[in-house]
Amino acid sequence: MKQELLDLVKEHGTPLFILDHKKIRENYQTFKKHLPRVQAYYAVKANSNQEIVKTLFEQGASFDVASYNEFMQVYEYLKSMKKSEKEFYIWDKIIFSNTIKDKETLRKINKYKPLVTFDNEAELKKILEYGNQAGLVLRLKVPDTGSQVEMSSKFGADPSDGLKLITQAFDMGLKVEGLSFHVGSQCGNFDNYTCALALTSELFTETRKQGYNLNLLDIGGGFPVPYDEHVPRFEQLATILNSEFERLFPKDIEIVAEPGRFMVATAAILVSEIIGKARRDGKVFYHINDGVYHTYSGVVYDHWVPNFHSFKGDEKKICAVVGPTCDSFDKITLSAELPETMELGDYIYTENIGAYSTASTTRFNGFEGAKIIHKY
Ligand SMILES: Cc1ncc(COP(=O)(O)O)c(C=O)c1O
Repeated sequence: MKQELLDLVKEHGTPLFILDHKKIRENYQTFKKHLPRVQAYYAVKANSNQEIVKTLFEQGASFDVASYNEFMQVYEYLKSMKKSEKEFYIWDKIIFSNTIKDKETLRKINKYKPLVTFDNEAELKKILEYGNQAGLVLRLKVPDTGSQVEMSSKFGADPSDGLKLITQAFDMGLKVEGLSFHVGSQCGNFDNYTCALALTSELFTETRKQGYNLNLLDIGGGFPVPYDEHVPRFEQLATILNSEFERLFPKDIEIVAEPGRFMVATAAILVSEIIGKARRDGKVFYHINDGVYHTYSGVVYDHWVPNFHSFKGDEKKICAVVGPTCDSFDKITLSAELPETMELGDYIYTENIGAYSTASTTRFNGFEGAKIIHKY
C-alpha cells in the first residue's frame, strides 16, 4: 500500500486525499447485510463529494440532506424520472433531516413534496406557511452519553411533548409520518440506542391509540467506525438493534437510518508532506502542508483524534504535527508517535479520514486544501 501511495503522490502532489469507492460500496453492503430491515439514507454532510453521492445512489442508497444544496445534489439523479414516478420516489430517496429550515428553503422544496423533520411548534407553523406539502417526522431528544459528538443539547423534542406536537401538527392539517432520533455521532454506548428505541416505541403505541397512524421510524446515525481496537463492533450493535426492532416495532413500521461516518470514514487516506521541522521545548514539531483549517478540520468540529503513519520504520517518539497556517491554533496533535528522523520533503499519511474532513475544510490563509482523487 505504501508504494501505491507514493506513486500517487508522485503523479498528483500533496496534500492528497485518496477516496476509495470500492470501500464505500463495501461499507454500504455491510450495513445492508447486518441491518436487513433498515433502508440506509446516507447523511451527505459527512462527505458531500458528488462522486460519493453517485456511487451510493448506484448501490441503491437513499439520502439524508441538511440543506437545499444537498437536496439538489441528490435530486440530480431523480430529475430525469417521469413526474408520477418522481413523486412516488422522493420520500424513498431523500429525507431532509435538519429540524430547522429557513422559510426560503421550505418554499423551494415544497413542490417536491419532501419528507422533513421537526422538533418544535414554531417550526410547525413555518412548515404550514411555506412547506405545507411536506410529510413530517418528529425528532425526539434521546440520550447521547459517551458518543464522540453529542446532539441532544441542540436537537430533539422532549419525548413527553411528543404526543402534543403530533396532535398539533394534525390539527393544523399537516401529516406526521413518523419519529426519528440521533444518539450522537460515533456512538460507542449501545444503551443510547436501546433507550431511544424504547422511548420511540412507547410514543408509537400512544399515538396509534389516539388514532394517528405513524408508520416510519428513523434511527438516525451514530454507527461506530472502527478507528481503533477499542471501538465496540458495528456487528454487535446490529444484533441488538435487530432484536429490539422485532420486539418493539410491528412489521408495518418502516425503519430507516441516516448513517454518515459509517459509509465514508474508512474509505479515505490523506497524504501530506513535511514542509518544516523544529525542536520546540525538546519535542520534534513536524509542520505539514495540511491542518485543522483544512482536511484535519474534524479535530475541531468532530472531536476526532487522527492517526499518523510514517513511510520510515525508525523508532517512534512523541512528536507534534501542526498545520501550515500562521495561526497557533492550527496544531493537529501534540502527541503523535512518529520517528524523529523524518526530514523536509518526507511524507506522512492518515487513514480513516473520509468523514467530516474535506466536508468542513476552509480556505483560511489562502490554502486551497487537499487535492481529491478517486479510486473506483
Ligand atoms: C440529523 C443527522 N443525521 C445523521 C447524521 C450522521 O451521523 P453519523 O455520521 O454519526 O452517522 C448527522 C450528523 O451530524 C445528523 O445531524
